[in-house]
Amino acid sequence: MAVESLVRKLIPSTVLVARNPLFCAASCVVDATYGRYAEWRTGVKMPPLRYIVRTGVGNNILFPHLYYATAGHKVWQYFFSEGLANLESNIVDIGCGCGKSGAALRDFRYADVEFSGHYYGFDIDTALVDWCNGHFPPDHFTFSLVNGKSSLYPASGKPQAEKSLAVCQDNSIDLVFSQSLFSHLLEEDLENYVRESFRVLKPGGAMCMTFFCLEDLETLGLLGQRWSFAHKIGRAYVENEAFPEAAVAYERDVIVGLAQAVGFSSSKVILPTYQSSLLCKK
Ligand SMILES: C[S@@+](CC[C@H](N)C(=O)[O-])C[C@H]1O[C@@H](n2cnc3c(N)ncnc32)[C@H](O)[C@@H]1O
Repeated sequence: MAVESLVRKLIPSTVLVARNPLFCAASCVVDATYGRYAEWRTGVKMPPLRYIVRTGVGNNILFPHLYYATAGHKVWQYFFSEGLANLESNIVDIGCGCGKSGAALRDFRYADVEFSGHYYGFDIDTALVDWCNGHFPPDHFTFSLVNGKSSLYPASGKPQAEKSLAVCQDNSIDLVFSQSLFSHLLEEDLENYVRESFRVLKPGGAMCMTFFCLEDLETLGLLGQRWSFAHKIGRAYVENEAFPEAAVAYERDVIVGLAQAVGFSSSKVILPTYQSSLLCKK
C-alpha cells in the first residue's frame, strides 16, 4: 500500500498518462494489434486505448479492453433490477467518457428486444464525445459536450450549450446517472449537475451518482492507505492540491444535503464499496 500511495503521488491520475505523447505513440501499437483482437473476440467496437485510459482502466493500463467491454453490464443489471430504468427509458449519463456504460445498453439483445428509449451522454472531453457520436446509433444515442472547469480534464472544445444538460427538456428523463464523475468534481460543478438532474427528471425519476464517501472509505479501511483526502477546498476533500479534480471526496451529510436543497424528495447514500452511490428520487 505504501508503494501504491507513492505511485498515486507521482501520477495522480491515468488521465495524465493518457495525454503523454510517448504513451500515445505506444498505444497506437496496442490499438492495431490487441485492440483489433479484443474487438473481434468481444464484438464490441473498441475506442482507441488512449481514450479508454482517460476514463478508467480497471487496473490494466495497456490492455483494459475486456474491462471496457464488460464493466458496463453490471450497471444496467442494477438499474433494471431496481426498477430505476428499463429498455424504453430516457436516460442521462453525465461524464459518459468513451461510452463504457452506453455500449452495454447499445449492444443489449434478448430475442428481438433491444434498447428503444433515448440515452443522452454528456462529457467535458471533445475527443470522447466525437468518438461516441461516430460509434452509436443516433436515433437512440446522443452525446454532447458540456462546459466545466477541471485541472485534469481541461474543457477541450466549445460546449454545445451553456446550461449543462440543455438538450434535455424539463421533466423528460427517467434516470440520470454518473459513474466516477462526482469523484472528480469540486462543489460548484457538482451542485450544478445535481440541480440540472433535478430539472430534467420526471417526477418519480431517479438520480444515481457514484462518489467517494469519506465515512464509507473510513469504515472500509481505505483511508490512510491508498487515499488520504488530506486537503480541503470548500466542502470537498481532495487528494492532490496541484490536481484537485484527480480525486475528490465528500462527507455523507454534505452530499445528501445538496440533493435535499435542490428539492429531491428522498436522498440516501447506498452501496458502500470503493465508491458509494448517492441515490435520490424526485
Ligand atoms: C473516470 S471517467 C469515467 C467515465 C465513464 N463514466 C466510465 O465509467 O467509463 C470521468 C469522466 O468524466 C468526464 N468529466 C470530468 N469532469 C467533467 C465535468 N465537469 N463535466 C462532465 N464530464 C466531466 C471526463 O472527461 C471523463 O470522461
